[in-house]
Amino acid sequence: MSRVDEQTEELRRRKAQSEGGGGHQKVAAQHAKGKMTARERILQLLDPESFMEVDSLVEHRCQDFDMERNIIPGDGVICGHGTIDGKLVYCFAQDFTVYGGSLGEMHGLKICKILDMAIKTGAPVIGLNDSGGARIQEGVASLGSYAEIFFRNVRASGVIPQISVIMGPCAGGAVYSPAITDFVIMVDKTAHMFITGPEVIKTVTNEEVTFEDLGGASTHATRSGVTHFTAENDQQALELVQELIGYLPSNNLEKAPTKNTRDSLDRECNILDSIIPNDPSLPYDINEVIEEVLDDGAFLEIQAEFAPNIVIGYGRLGGNTVGIIGNQPKYLAGCLDIDASIKAARFVRFCDSFNIPLITFVDVPGFLPGASQEWGGIIRHGAKLLYSYAEATVPKLTVITRKAYGGAYDVMSSKHIRGDYNVAWPSAQLAVMGASGAVQIIHRKRIKSSGNPEQERERLVEDYNDTFANPYRAASLGYLDDVIQPRDTRLKLIKALGALLEKEEVRPAKKHGNIPL
Ligand code: HXC
Repeated sequence: MSRVDEQTEELRRRKAQSEGGGGHQKVAAQHAKGKMTARERILQLLDPESFMEVDSLVEHRCQDFDMERNIIPGDGVICGHGTIDGKLVYCFAQDFTVYGGSLGEMHGLKICKILDMAIKTGAPVIGLNDSGGARIQEGVASLGSYAEIFFRNVRASGVIPQISVIMGPCAGGAVYSPAITDFVIMVDKTAHMFITGPEVIKTVTNEEVTFEDLGGASTHATRSGVTHFTAENDQQALELVQELIGYLPSNNLEKAPTKNTRDSLDRECNILDSIIPNDPSLPYDINEVIEEVLDDGAFLEIQAEFAPNIVIGYGRLGGNTVGIIGNQPKYLAGCLDIDASIKAARFVRFCDSFNIPLITFVDVPGFLPGASQEWGGIIRHGAKLLYSYAEATVPKLTVITRKAYGGAYDVMSSKHIRGDYNVAWPSAQLAVMGASGAVQIIHRKRIKSSGNPEQERERLVEDYNDTFANPYRAASLGYLDDVIQPRDTRLKLIKALGALLEKEEVRPAKKHGNIPL
């Protein structure tokens, strides 16, 4: 064999060893669990032929526990870049077949390199997580690499979009990298996230809880709000990433992407004229309003199962990406509570960081009353949403469909916190509170002393409704830019958005604000 042939063979052998991961048996075990391998996932995620791997020959340098005799080039994580629908992205995928995807020093530093490159080049980063956590044999070196990743996640926050897909275990402090990133997608049944597992919980608190109940996708979608999307399997999770990337700019200096649509810009939304029930206490589905208004009815809802009293997600208007926030009268009458405030606040901040205009549909009877809300800190948490809207300088468009009561009126992208285009439907009611509560407070004595209290109450309620259960007082004060026919909502929003796309608004220079966390 010539020297060149020997060199070629050496390279081929090393690359093959890296590509083989933990070997056939472990790959078969991975498939048996319904999971793809790390490499299959990356190839599925990216455009064909676009993946460029880096660091496939990186090895750990641990000398303890006989680890020097067990070296697999690549060290359990596949890293590189490629494109999704032609857009550059950086990505890494932990390989569970190699040391259980556990994160040792070099494994972690490979991920750091990817994050550094993504920040330098202004490209989104996607992490496919499937790992037993800190590599126990590497001790504190593993913890050090984790913290290096966390630091970079924070540095990248608001600079490039960061997406985490959880496709296997993700335990202990390892959860904090995904938690800092902008979006978490969990695969149902195979993904689990928790700080301490069921066995430790049993020992410390005597609680018995299964893996799935503790940290499965369904738990994090409905109870904790940790995950933004749940996917049925690996394939669907990767498709969700592709769809999401289509709505996002590559970095904070870019405008949000546009996509041509055949949906006519002046399409009338006739069903909206009759969507509000005659009885103001009856619900309707705000998703129907959102889908009717958006291009082609396409709405990518985020955290659909968490705090369903507020709806958030992405769509397009006249081809422009927009972030949608809507109170949902179907749940808790659309009240703002702790979870809804936090959910919407983080979404507003993401959109503002990445130049995505905000469209807010308002039908809110107020903040949810109750001792548990007060003790849980609704004051602190509600303030997050107020702060986020007031801080946001992207175009802010607001449509009040029905109720806009009390502090919640102010919070939900009102003119006063610098909404740019604020309109209401004729069915809108802008007031400090609903009629019966208001009459009870301001006319209590009058009702009591009246010969016919019930009749007097009804008369006063009617009087109050005549004064406030409409949008015209607010319109007369300029708090609304217009009152529009519901059917014209799409047309008006598209025109207003078109005029706002070049909006610039400057706030006082500061290191950073102090959002009430
Ligand atoms: C080293 C690990 C590992 C780890 C798994 N492996 N976790 N090696 N460090 N953390 C290895 C196993 O030894 C095994 O190697 C292979 O990966 C597959 O693991 P199995 O246990 O056979 O797989 P499975 O039955 O599917 O169970 C997966 C698992 C379990 C649930 C993840 O392995 C497990 O509980 N691992 C420990 C998880 C953990 O407590 N990690 C630390 C969390 S604290 P062989 O060679 O036998 O195939 C943490 C702190 C982070 O991560 C702090 C950041 C600041």
